[in-house]
Amino acid sequence: MRLKDKVVLVTGSARGIGKAIADRFAEEGAIPVISDVANEGAARETLAAIEARGGKGLVSMFDVSDSAQVDRAVSEVMAAFGRIDILVNNAGITRDNLMMRMSEDDFDLVYRVHLKGTFLLTKVVSRIMMKQRYGRIINMSSVVGVMGNAGQANYSAMKAGIIGLTKSAAKELAARNITVNAIAPGFINTPMTEALPEAVQKAFLAAIPLGRYAEPKEVADLALFLASDEAAYITGQAIGINGGLYM
Ligand code: NAI
Repeated sequence: MRLKDKVVLVTGSARGIGKAIADRFAEEGAIPVISDVANEGAARETLAAIEARGGKGLVSMFDVSDSAQVDRAVSEVMAAFGRIDILVNNAGITRDNLMMRMSEDDFDLVYRVHLKGTFLLTKVVSRIMMKQRYGRIINMSSVVGVMGNAGQANYSAMKAGIIGLTKSAAKELAARNITVNAIAPGFINTPMTEALPEAVQKAFLAAIPLGRYAEPKEVADLALFLASDEAAYITGQAIGINGGLYM
């Protein structure tokens, strides 16, 4: 068991990559806090399955872009378990459009969930980790944060911003034995990518040297490595997992 009794808060984990991370970490003995702004039923099913296997955890419903909700949720986790060892900033949305048609609201919304949300959680949880003198923070960026993508100016700007935030936090927190890394996935089979038009999906597939999309579990395995003792000397990195789409 690589994460025995480690408390891990995973945002946006009712489904998709976040759910895969909560499941994978629980398999390794972690205590996941499954948190999301929507899909409470799915989050509870995930927790019930973990409990049925002898594990434990918590469901916490909150919006990562709202500082009052973030503070309340983190306090609840602390009341329940007394520590937070691993934070995975995974919650995300898309509001795609060509920039000339993109509304200010869609830009702001994507900013609030990805970049502001990652900042708010990192700020409050890193205080706890500093006292613990231990922590692992994993931020979900994206391949489009490093290569750009037509129709995703808002999303790719925030994903690039998350890499900058990751590196700055890594420098600020290293002395307290806290590592901060980003994962930059390519095309992963989740509800988020299923929603893309078929033509866009085909074009991505043709550009991926490994010739397929990834499954959420493959991203969860990378997150597991970054959260494990084996990755103790890795910090401030943005690690791609994209089938060679961007090298
Ligand atoms: P998803 O749409 O399946 O899951 C995202 C979850 O985040 C949802 O359950 C949603 O309710 C939750 N969420 C949205 N806004 C929230 C908020 N304000 N507060 C709390 N939770 C909120 O998406 P998926 O594909 O699992 O993506 C997870 C992360 O990985 C996202 O940050 C996404 O940008 C990133 N990513 C995904 C890729 C893909 O190909 N699926 C590729 C690269 C990055």
